[in-house]
Amino acid sequence: MDRVLIFDTTLRDGEQSPGISLDVGEKLEIAEQLARLGVDVIEAGFPIASDGDFEAVGAIAKTVRGPVIAALSRTGFKDVDRAWEAVRHAERNRIHVFIATSEIHMTKKLRMSHDQVKNEAAAGVARAKSYTDDVEFSPEDGFRSDPDFMCAVCQIAVDNGATTLNIPDTVGYGVPEDYGKLIAYVFDQVKGEFIVSTHCHDDLGLAVANSLAGVINGARQVECAMNGLGERAGNAALEEVVMAIHTRSDYYEGLNTGVRTEELARTSRMVSRLTGYPVQFNKAIVGRNAFAHEAGIHQHGVLEDRETYEIIDAGLVGQEAAQIVLGKHSGRHAFADSLSKMGLHLQGDGLNQAFVRFKELADRKVEITEADLEAIVAEELGTGAVHKYTMVNLELEGGTNRTPHARVILTDGSEKCEGEGTGNGMIDAAIAAIAAATGTDGDLTEFHVSSVTRGGDALGDVVLQLDVNGVKASGRGVATDVVEASARAYLSAVNKIVRLSDRPGPRERAVGP
Ligand code: KIV
Ligand code: ZN
Repeated sequence: MDRVLIFDTTLRDGEQSPGISLDVGEKLEIAEQLARLGVDVIEAGFPIASDGDFEAVGAIAKTVRGPVIAALSRTGFKDVDRAWEAVRHAERNRIHVFIATSEIHMTKKLRMSHDQVKNEAAAGVARAKSYTDDVEFSPEDGFRSDPDFMCAVCQIAVDNGATTLNIPDTVGYGVPEDYGKLIAYVFDQVKGEFIVSTHCHDDLGLAVANSLAGVINGARQVECAMNGLGERAGNAALEEVVMAIHTRSDYYEGLNTGVRTEELARTSRMVSRLTGYPVQFNKAIVGRNAFAHEAGIHQHGVLEDRETYEIIDAGLVGQEAAQIVLGKHSGRHAFADSLSKMGLHLQGDGLNQAFVRFKELADRKVEITEADLEAIVAEELGTGAVHKYTMVNLELEGGTNRTPHARVILTDGSEKCEGEGTGNGMIDAAIAAIAAATGTDGDLTEFHVSSVTRGGDALGDVVLQLDVNGVKASGRGVATDVVEASARAYLSAVNKIVRLSDRPGPRERAVGP
């Protein structure tokens, strides 16, 4: 028994997540995808719960081929009959019968004695067996039940025809070692032919760990849900269980599942879209950042050899391969690599200056997009390899009732030059300050402002043309602030004019202290 059966309960326990309500069409779409994913069992719903559930289970049973289609049922005959009505058309069907065995559930919820629960289990399982050979039994709240009583009820279920015994940790109270021991105890106490299954809830964040402890102790079916959906904190996440068994086959001693792992990301996205439950960005396996690297050291490592910081090949789970996310933690390696993937090749000083600009922008903008990179590079390519002047600081003052005033500090590599200016608006004032600092004043014959991407933190991209006594040069500047972008564009044009006119820098004319 090397095969661990994957019993998907996204459409039953998962649909019990607060706020989720799938219609028949949506359930069918997910069930088709679960079949493509290669799960062994789809628990399609709880037919007695509502007409909608009955209809959806019926539609899935009639249409979806491949996995066993299971329906949940309490022990009462009305429940079992309804479950059978819904799944009877499936290629392969299963009735999943449950009754609680913990003291608190029996006294407070069922109001039944131990003997009544035993009788209910016997009758419900026997009724299900009269319809189908494939009957699963669950002692609800099994983990908090008296193990001997629970095993006695399980024995009754097996004696009446159950072929799978599912041991639920209904409230997510278990810890791996104890849950594993409980599974071993079931094997010890219950006699007969059956598969033991795990069903763990995630109230302590241990659902996957508990399920895997069950597997180590002999369980060969895991009940789980895509994206970890389910009551309260959810069920064991299917994608995590599957990839743990796959990735650590050394530890799980050759065990395997029949899941086509390449379908995991797609399935996760579909479930998220149709349920309206977002997937946490850093969610293991299927989160959008699960294969993204931001730290410079990590990026460098991954670019050299993916396995320095990744234990799973992203393609194996249908995710995009090692994504280098450029942000303020990124290093020159990742920056240059991203540029070259976009077909932009900068070297030497050009690369250094673009990298400095990128770092400045990354401090203000959380994520740098390809469009941002293009704009930065366009700015660099436009200015040529070496700048005469670079901007150190730009200060602006103004308001609706004050004349805009700007003060700029530049450096020409060895010395600082400062300038001040006023204008009709902030951009005008900033340009006047640069003109004063550099002594290069002229006419702006063109001026275009655009936004590189959408959103309030988008980069402003300014392209202008400066005409100084007939010498024309264009300049380009990008920054999160459009005034700064304009100032940079103006400065870049000034740098070109200085080079073109090959005249000494007008430092001597700089104003300010
Ligand atoms: O959590 C639980 O106990 C269940 C059962 C119905 C199997 O979902
Ligand atoms: Zn459950």
